[in-house]
Amino acid sequence: MRYGYFDEKNREYVITNPATPSPWANYLGSPEYGAIISNNAGGYSFVKSGAAGRIIRYRFNSVPADQPGRYIYLKDREDGDFWSASWAPVCKSLGEPAELAKLAKYRSECRHGTAYTEIVSEYRGVKTKTLYYVPRNSTHEVWRLEVTNESDRPRELSVTGYVEFTNEPFYEQDQVNLQYTLYITRTYFKGDHILQRVNDNEENPDKERFFGVAGAEVSAYCGDRDKFVGAYRGYSNPAAMTDGMNGDLNYCGNSCGALQCDITLQPGETRELVFLLGRKPQAEASKLIASYREAGRVDDELAELKKFWHGKLDNLQVKTPDEKFNNMVNVWNAYQCFITFIWSRAASFIYCGQRNGYGYRDTVQDIQGIVHLAPEMARDRLIFMLSAQVSNGAGLPLVKYDHQAGREDTPDQISYVRETGHPSYRADDALWLFPAVKKYIDESGELGFLGQKVLFADVEEEASVYEHLKRAIKFSMDNLGAHGMPAGLHADWNDCLRLGKSGESTFVLFQFYYALRILRDYAEIERDTDYAAELDGIITDVLGKINGLCWDGDRWIRGYREDGAVIGRRADPEASMWLNPQSWGVISGAAAGERGVLSMDSVYRELNTPHGTMVMYPPYHRHAFEGALMVCFNKGAKENAGIFTHTQGWAILAESLLGRGDRAFEYWREVCPAYMNDEADRRVMEPYVYGQFIEGRDSPFAGRAHNHWLTGAASTIMVGTVEGILGLRPNPDGIVIDPSPPSDWTEWSMVKKLRGKTLNVRVTNRGGGTQGVQSVTLNGRKLDGKFIPDSMLEAENDILLQM
Ligand code: GLC
Repeated sequence: MRYGYFDEKNREYVITNPATPSPWANYLGSPEYGAIISNNAGGYSFVKSGAAGRIIRYRFNSVPADQPGRYIYLKDREDGDFWSASWAPVCKSLGEPAELAKLAKYRSECRHGTAYTEIVSEYRGVKTKTLYYVPRNSTHEVWRLEVTNESDRPRELSVTGYVEFTNEPFYEQDQVNLQYTLYITRTYFKGDHILQRVNDNEENPDKERFFGVAGAEVSAYCGDRDKFVGAYRGYSNPAAMTDGMNGDLNYCGNSCGALQCDITLQPGETRELVFLLGRKPQAEASKLIASYREAGRVDDELAELKKFWHGKLDNLQVKTPDEKFNNMVNVWNAYQCFITFIWSRAASFIYCGQRNGYGYRDTVQDIQGIVHLAPEMARDRLIFMLSAQVSNGAGLPLVKYDHQAGREDTPDQISYVRETGHPSYRADDALWLFPAVKKYIDESGELGFLGQKVLFADVEEEASVYEHLKRAIKFSMDNLGAHGMPAGLHADWNDCLRLGKSGESTFVLFQFYYALRILRDYAEIERDTDYAAELDGIITDVLGKINGLCWDGDRWIRGYREDGAVIGRRADPEASMWLNPQSWGVISGAAAGERGVLSMDSVYRELNTPHGTMVMYPPYHRHAFEGALMVCFNKGAKENAGIFTHTQGWAILAESLLGRGDRAFEYWREVCPAYMNDEADRRVMEPYVYGQFIEGRDSPFAGRAHNHWLTGAASTIMVGTVEGILGLRPNPDGIVIDPSPPSDWTEWSMVKKLRGKTLNVRVTNRGGGTQGVQSVTLNGRKLDGKFIPDSMLEAENDILLQM
């Protein structure tokens, strides 16, 4: 069944049936003032930290689902009937099943756009349109309600905006430490807003919260949640709707903000009300609310938001024969990449905000998903992550949001371990810097970035980016296992795989090989001749190890445990086949030939399913070893033979590099959310975003997706798509375009902005090839080969590529 459709022109997903199989979310604002909202207005807001700066409540895993939220209740004052401007929480009949159809039917439409959400409702001749957003660079949120009388008689309505405040900004404390939190907050009514004070903040008005309204007089209010809802009732039938509100305020209970405005609407008349929410000193809040009485402010702010986001997305727009592909590349995958880049793993309906910092590998990967759209943003974050590299070359496993470069403790100190819960370095963290720095330099052309000075995390020592990369290699070389491969340390990419401190991972060995090759090129640019020669020696040695120690007939093994046992052998009863070493064999360039083909064929044969490629197979059950932590997950879930979507991007890229466009596209399509739009009941999650994983073959619910929005899947799939399928590969001197499309794409076009220039690319592929460019014509001139030099580019360029 389907619940909505893509409106590509407006860059929105439109939900027409609000009874979605799970709350389908969108992101507003940024973690400075973050708001997450579902298609039924459920969700929460926070300042700076989802875990420690929560201002409104959301009960994770709640029953009923997805409560509370940013609610607007409407009531017909003539007959007392009430409903909500989003279908939930009141949930009026949608007209099904048949016996209910005689009741008035409620219609709802939710449009999730780029950093705004608009929910339309129609019920008994009253139409509402509620726009939710956080203005650019602001720390408050806006809900603009337009209410229209579409009936042919005057209507007496009351409109009530509602939020449930937290009593205490630490979300966990707020939920459980009731002997304390119930007694620390009060609410006040201030004419056009409810003010909530948390006593701790008496001296600190910055932390006062407010919920206000502009555009109508307040007729009634309530600041006490339990009075609003009423004993033994819920948000679907709060006492405030049946009995009215009597100006109750919170003292020793739970706070809320509820503001009722009574309005009369003539037939055809529309009224606009603006509700505002935030954490600001009261005086500032009052001014802010007053400023929303100005006509046009909301429209201007919305236009600014769209301009910002659409401007970023415009940096790559494609028009291929596959609409869903276009939609993902042009809008949703791109937008999700920005959300994961900005929000990291901070807050969703699954993550409650407790991961209070950036995971090193996660963020360095996230950078790669936006670099083609916003190199300047990538640059800033790269410098930040380089400044979280320890002087021994490793990455800090968790980089605090308030990271102080030069002054941080490291996993070598118990203080860091206590504070972050990360006991050790990981084998892979700093190795992610190589593809990220390379992609940034290739996109921006800024070779000088290698010379940019950046502090290390733990010492007040500045070093060039180039030196930082050298340290990363040194870290791996200083930590080798028994076979001379980089040691496993705490873990590699796979958090659930502990090979032991001196165990060795094939995946990391491939990453290491890839890193060495990148650095070899940079050593040449930096004229670091001795070091280049040293790298040549290491590269040869590593290649020997790869081929001599890691190959098993038709696959790369997963690695060696500390005690010498091999993981991922062909003959193993469980976990005999692992995806990442196979895809990274190809990506790293180490297995470009026959072994690359053989291993990727084994992936297809043993790991592929209609819903994507499993991260390994068969799942651990009876043969897990001590470090195989994934055995705790149900078979087919997460790292235990789930389709870990994150890794699908690498499979797409590897197949594209092998020139097997049909298979690359097949992998792309299997996990594509848009392709599951009509099977939303099976997939459950939003059909416009990737989730962390999809249940694999051994689950009774194969194909069900989990952990929406904040996942590395966004960036790896974007990279697989843009660099792989579309073959857009800039370098500091120009760009190579070398697509690997499915064979039925005979013609398509792309508009790419590169360093301020516009490339209008048309590709023709009459022969149905899946790799191989026959000719490139730039502005009417035929080029030799597929490289397009910067020096020949004009402001606007017509490029014709024949495959
Ligand atoms: C999660 C983690 C990521 C890890 C992956 C596989 O996505 O955030 O760091 O690589 O799981 O274990």
